[in-house]
Amino acid sequence: MSERAPRQPLRTIDWVDDHIRLIDQTLLPDELTHLDIVTVEQLVDSISRLAVRGAPALGVAGGFGVALALSTIGPENLGPAINSIRHARPTAVNLARGVDRVSALVPDGFDAVLAEAVRLRDQEIAASISMGELGANLVEELVGSRAIRAMTICNTGGLATVERGTALAVIRTLHERSRLSEALPIETRPLLQGARLTTWELQRMGAPFRLLVDSAGPSVLARGLADVVLIGADRIAANGDTANKIGSYSLALGAARAGVPFVVVAPETTVDEATATGADIEIEDRGPAEVREIHGCRITPAGVDALNPAFDVTPVDLITAIVTDRRVVRFDQRTVTDEKPDGDMVGVHPFDEEP
Ligand code: MRU
Repeated sequence: MSERAPRQPLRTIDWVDDHIRLIDQTLLPDELTHLDIVTVEQLVDSISRLAVRGAPALGVAGGFGVALALSTIGPENLGPAINSIRHARPTAVNLARGVDRVSALVPDGFDAVLAEAVRLRDQEIAASISMGELGANLVEELVGSRAIRAMTICNTGGLATVERGTALAVIRTLHERSRLSEALPIETRPLLQGARLTTWELQRMGAPFRLLVDSAGPSVLARGLADVVLIGADRIAANGDTANKIGSYSLALGAARAGVPFVVVAPETTVDEATATGADIEIEDRGPAEVREIHGCRITPAGVDALNPAFDVTPVDLITAIVTDRRVVRFDQRTVTDEKPDGDMVGVHPFDEEP
C-alpha cells in the first residue's frame, strides 16, 4: 500500500453474536480496543462516559440497546431499562429517536427488533456516504477551483457515526478527490475529541492537517487561513438552529465576520421537526470535573468550580448551508437542492421560513 492510500474506515459500533461491540473511544488514540457490551447498565455507562459518542453513533447504540434490553431483561423491568438508555444523554436527538424507532418493534419480538436496529445502522452508513458526496460538491461550489482548507470541530468522523462520518466525511471525500489542501481540526476541550479522535482519523485516511487550539479558530478565520468551516450536529431544530459541540458558535461568529462559509453536515436523523428553535434544545452540562482535569490529571487548584456545557447552539442566520444525506439547504440563497421528498426519512421540509 502506498503511503497516501487511505485505509478502510472502521465500524465503530455493531451487533456481534448476542451483544453490542463498540470501539472504546476514551482510550484513543493510544489504544484501539473494543468493548463487548452485554448489559444495559454497561451500555448506559459507555454512553455517559463517551466510550461511544457522536449523534449518529448514539442513535445506533440506542437501537441496538433496545435489542440488548429485550434479550437480557424480563418484561417487568423492560420499560425502565429502555428508558435509561433513551435518557443517557439529552442533546443528541438521535439517541432518543433510535430507541423509539426500534422500541416500536418490541411487540413483534427480538428478531424484528434486531432487524430494525440493523436497518438503522445500515441507513447511517449509507447516509455518511451521501453526506460526503453532497457536502464535497457544495464545498467545491462555494470555494471554487483552488485547493480547499477546511476547519472543523470535535469529532465527526466514522467514530461519531458508524463509518465515514458527517463533516469529516466531507473532508474525507474532498481528500479522495484530491481537493483538500489541509484540514484544520480544533482540539475541543474538555474531552479533546478533535485532538484525540479527529487527528487519529485524519492520519488513518492520509489527509494533510494541522491541529489548532480551541481559541485559535476565529483569528485563523480572520487571517484568511481557512476556506470553509464544516461542523456536525447533535440536533437541528425545525428552523435550522443547530446544537453542536461547545465552540461551534464561536467558529460561526468568526466565520461570519471573516466571510467564510459555515456549513452544517448531519443526517436527516438529526433533524428534529418537533423542536421549534435552538432555544428549545436541552444542553447537556457535564459538571466541573472534566474542566478541572485532562486525562484524569488535575490542572487547576483543588476545589475550583467550573461550568461545563457540552454543546452550544448556532443560530440559523450564521449558517451558510445545512447538508443532510438527502438535500442541501442553502440559507445564503434560500434554496433546497437534492431533496428527495419521497424518501422514508424525510417528511415536510423543516427549513421553510421566509428570510
Ligand atoms: O460530546 P460528543 O463527543 O458526543 O459530541 C459530538 C459532537 O458534538 C458532534 O459534532 C456531533 O455529534 C455530530 S457527529 C457526527
